[in-house]
Amino acid sequence: MSTSTDSIREIILNQPSSAKVFHRFDIDLCLQADLSLEGACRDLQLSVDQVLEKLADAEAQEKGGVALDPDSIPLARLIQHIVRIHHHCVRQELPRLAEMASKVAAMRSDRAPELTKVAELIEKLRGEMHAHIEKEEEVLFPFISQMDQESIVAYPPAHACFRSVAHPIFMMEQEHESADHIVADLIQLTNNCEPPTWACVTHIALFSGLREFESDLRQHVHLENDVLFPRAIQLETQLKARS
Ligand SMILES: [Fe+2]
Ligand SMILES: [Fe+2]
Repeated sequence: MSTSTDSIREIILNQPSSAKVFHRFDIDLCLQADLSLEGACRDLQLSVDQVLEKLADAEAQEKGGVALDPDSIPLARLIQHIVRIHHHCVRQELPRLAEMASKVAAMRSDRAPELTKVAELIEKLRGEMHAHIEKEEEVLFPFISQMDQESIVAYPPAHACFRSVAHPIFMMEQEHESADHIVADLIQLTNNCEPPTWACVTHIALFSGLREFESDLRQHVHLENDVLFPRAIQLETQLKARS
């Protein structure tokens, strides 16, 4: 548990999720790393108690995890879970990681030229993932949720823009593969997200954020590729047989 006298650097090292909280409060990981939390809050006229409260929330969330039985949960609820947890992570984390990566590349690429490539790849991942989750939320997920409704009478629905749900699913799986390749390159370039001994606090926070994002993306893609998509295809087969 962090205290107001701990420095920003100490808090980041002990609790990687704190970087997200500091970002939300505009605490600068480079310029304020050696200040105590109290000092950084004083400079920015922030309530130290409020920041400590958010740090405790982030820590609890980190340790918590979400209980869910993906094989029995209704598809509409599984979709809600994916959007609320994993798409939220894409929207919140990739811009934050991209911002940190461009800062770190600007400051440290003379010492580690691969940081420029890291920043480029995170930016590429951000663009691809953002477009990907928009397609899922606008087209595929509403279609699956509708199929899952007991009251559906005719399949495929008259307004459907594809003949089988397998087509957009195939496209989404291809995009997952592309994201997976980018992340694999990032893991390799960052030495498995291990910062060098000379890394500054932003550099450390970038690598720990990247590691967390990689783990979230793995769970995100698993829930879609291995649970949601096969169940949607199976449901479609049943509906076609009925109509
Ligand atoms: Fe998704
Ligand atoms: Fe996806």
